[in-house]
Amino acid sequence: MSDDFVNASDTGEIPSFNGDAKAKATDFAQYFCSYAQLYHQKQMLADHNRMAAYHSAIVGNANVFKDKVVMDVGTGSGILAVWAAQAGARKVYAVEYTDMAKHAEKVMVANGVQDIVTVIQGAVEEIELPMEEDSLTPNDGDNPTQVVDIIISEWMGYFLLRESMLDSLIRARDKFLKPKAGLMFPSHTTMYFAPVTDENERKASAQDYGNAMCDWHEFAEGTKNTYGVDMSILEADFNREQKEYYMLSSRWSELTSDAVLGEPSIIKHLDMATCTIEDSRGVSKDAKDSKFEFTVDGSSANGPISGFSGWFTADFKSRTDVDGLGAAPVISYPAFLSTGPENGYTHWGQQTFYNPSPIPLLRGETTKIVGYVEMMRTKENSRLYNCRITHSITRRNTDAGEDGQVLHASHENSVIYQIP
Ligand SMILES: C[S@@+](CC[C@H](N)C(=O)[O-])C[C@H]1O[C@@H](n2cnc3c(N)ncnc32)[C@H](O)[C@@H]1O
Repeated sequence: MSDDFVNASDTGEIPSFNGDAKAKATDFAQYFCSYAQLYHQKQMLADHNRMAAYHSAIVGNANVFKDKVVMDVGTGSGILAVWAAQAGARKVYAVEYTDMAKHAEKVMVANGVQDIVTVIQGAVEEIELPMEEDSLTPNDGDNPTQVVDIIISEWMGYFLLRESMLDSLIRARDKFLKPKAGLMFPSHTTMYFAPVTDENERKASAQDYGNAMCDWHEFAEGTKNTYGVDMSILEADFNREQKEYYMLSSRWSELTSDAVLGEPSIIKHLDMATCTIEDSRGVSKDAKDSKFEFTVDGSSANGPISGFSGWFTADFKSRTDVDGLGAAPVISYPAFLSTGPENGYTHWGQQTFYNPSPIPLLRGETTKIVGYVEMMRTKENSRLYNCRITHSITRRNTDAGEDGQVLHASHENSVIYQIP
């Protein structure tokens, strides 16, 4: 898989930007079609941690939304656009690619905000705003369409970047948001990474893999005996496929705080006012935050290290970049969303990358894990990512401290996982 890891899709672009008809159709089948279903939208609407954070951010800062022009990038069923209208926005553009836009229109009427909210069906990369009709004064800078005061969007995928919708958000920001006074909601996002213990799930994945191979042997023997065809030539390929699925894919987890064995490490922090398409591409080895160092005391940990887990947080607060400071409205009531183990259920959960075998933790010894995380879009699908985790381990007597004799030092270990 290592070639796939470094060799991301030809252009690395998502098809909603400059994609040809075939690429768009494939993207629709693979990505958008689920968002066209109310069943899928409801799953997000029933995520109370998510809902409460956005509700507090928008309705709780009505003083900021009052009389503003707002854009909801990827409005889905329209909930964020309704809140923006209820918070006093003068005009809300609710942009949605799929036919969910038709449901959103009904939601606007049912909630009496149809005169404020205009639902626009299309890719945000391709739509135009009815500026003249809505008497919006063109921006006098290089980009006359930068007339929006606030962009709200729920664009985040598993481990923040999966789905690559951040590309669409950045393009919408650069085309439509007032460059200095404009606000992005969320305003900042942060990816976290930590060693975790979760032996039940790790063992279950290994067992499922073992069972799949057992089943293969039975099948191959049966096919030969019953139908006279030898399929054993395909065993290695089947094995690779199953191993990637069960052992080399991250798993959705709902961990509890006591599963986290070390202080979570930030591996990427994004200021939504200034982040770039390059940021959206992933996390590179040379990135400032891609490196981690965890110290785990074997006497207090409640299990071996089963693997590593990743999640994200989102802030809704004042702008902190040089251009925005002093120019953009101050957020008096910041809101916060965490998808980490300390916060209970969210539909994002955490993504856990299980080790093939657990890293033991010994009483009286401290284990230090040093390494780095890389994340890159897959070759086949620019909305999906592979994650390479590279680490090495040293163990010391806890009483001897940081400079004590090294009792054990591992080789550097590198595993590539797909985030399904
Ligand atoms: C995670 S959902 C959020 C829905 C809704 N805003 C909410 O909070 O419940 C993201 C939505 O963005 C839409 N979307 C993704 N990329 C888009 C694009 N480039 N242009 C317009 N809509 C897009 C998807 O179809 C989906 O409905």
